[in-house]
Amino acid sequence: MTDQASTPVSAAKKLFIKTYGCQMNVYDSQRMAEAMGAEGYVLTENQSEADMVLLNTCHIREKAAEKLYSDLGRLKPLKAERPDLKIGVAGCVAQAEGAEIQRRMPIVDLVVGPQAYHRLPAMARAGRGVDTEFPAEDKFEHLPKPAATRRAPAAFLTVQEGCDKFCAFCVVPYTRGAEVSRPVDRILREAHDLVSRGVREITLLGQNVNGWHGEGPSLEGQGGEWGFGRLIRAMAEIDGLDRIRYTTSHPNDMADDLIEAHRSEPKLMPYLHLPVQSGSNRILKAMNRKHTVDQYLRLIDRIREARPDILLTSDFIVGFPGETDQDHRDTLDLVARVNFGTAFSFKYSPRPGTPAYDRPEVDTDLADARLQELQALLSSQQKAVQESMVGREVSVLFEKPGRNEGQMVGKSDYLHAVFVEAPQAKVGDLVRVRITHSAANSLAGELVA
Ligand code: SAH
Ligand code: SF4
Ligand code: F3S
Repeated sequence: MTDQASTPVSAAKKLFIKTYGCQMNVYDSQRMAEAMGAEGYVLTENQSEADMVLLNTCHIREKAAEKLYSDLGRLKPLKAERPDLKIGVAGCVAQAEGAEIQRRMPIVDLVVGPQAYHRLPAMARAGRGVDTEFPAEDKFEHLPKPAATRRAPAAFLTVQEGCDKFCAFCVVPYTRGAEVSRPVDRILREAHDLVSRGVREITLLGQNVNGWHGEGPSLEGQGGEWGFGRLIRAMAEIDGLDRIRYTTSHPNDMADDLIEAHRSEPKLMPYLHLPVQSGSNRILKAMNRKHTVDQYLRLIDRIREARPDILLTSDFIVGFPGETDQDHRDTLDLVARVNFGTAFSFKYSPRPGTPAYDRPEVDTDLADARLQELQALLSSQQKAVQESMVGREVSVLFEKPGRNEGQMVGKSDYLHAVFVEAPQAKVGDLVRVRITHSAANSLAGELVA
């Protein structure tokens, strides 16, 4: 017998992860995959061959939460066929519903909240459990150190979690808990590690990322309280890191030093997602957003003064309880005044446990009609902004091969997807591109010699 035949092929256990919701969940899924990697699990794209299926869930709107239960329903036959398949539910539905998930769906073995997922490996070993605590220890410090494998050129890095803003419609303060900023040294250490593994662009993440603050390192007089703008400047000093982005921001936390960073820091990309939710002062007040339309517009003016070409995006909720036709027209008016590069708009979804939950709802057909009207205006702006890129030169970081032979696709400074004929190029190249064409949700361009 040859060596090869006598050695049993050590079948690594396979982990399938499905991620719903925001970028913070994308980051968390990556960290959970790394944590389970230390337990001998490798990722698979194929759910039917998995030894463990992990659903990392979102609770933001009713539809998002209900997706979990339809996916679990579809997993029943697989679990019946292979009873030792482990099924885990992580993320914000896990936090909001806890053990209720197992009562409703007994096929679920593990329920783990977003602040407790460093305990997932131990739970998986134990076989069954629920953990939705907000532990005192820092989960990031209790996760195994990621293997030094190569990473894609653009990565996420969570620097802040949770939210203390309590907008009247929103579950995040309950599912993610109070606002916590990660310390400077740990963020910079993680950024250096990412760069050493091939990352050239980092998006700093937080539910209120621009509210991040922390104690600076007590070296060379850099100590004292740092705001988010200072953190960005420290990130920009990292050799090999070419691009910095951040999301999501609250208008009230847009400090002067952050606006200044948009003026003076070339590595900070000219793109800002700044949700406003509504263009009506009455509704903003009912939403507990704690700013007015005028304050938002003046802020946009200051940001554009610092970085005239910045691409602005936002989130809107239509049909919030009490919204009148006039409130809706005020929202359309705000959109017309700002001119967004793109924006997300949602029909209000009442969420149990939030202050607005019991308020009388807007007629659903009316809300649908308003949503359509708003989306039509936003898409016409998106189209115009994209078309204004044609003829301009931008930088593009190649992230993967395109659909056609010899084609690459990457993101421009303004986060547009750009397709480029570049047969000699590789993933991770940062190139100059002249935009030649604007399509529905992407641009096309050619390499600049
Ligand atoms: N922290 C971010 C956004 C978090 S949730 C911020 O403060 O802007 C992402 C978006 O989902 C929100 O901006 C909002 O537009 C939308 N959203 C949140 N709760 C919602 C609800 N109950 N119904 C409809 N949309 C909601
Ligand atoms: Fe939700 Fe408001 Fe906090 Fe954003 S700022 S996460 S919308 S409560
Ligand atoms: Fe959803 Fe939780 Fe993110 S509710 S939007 S996954 S913070």
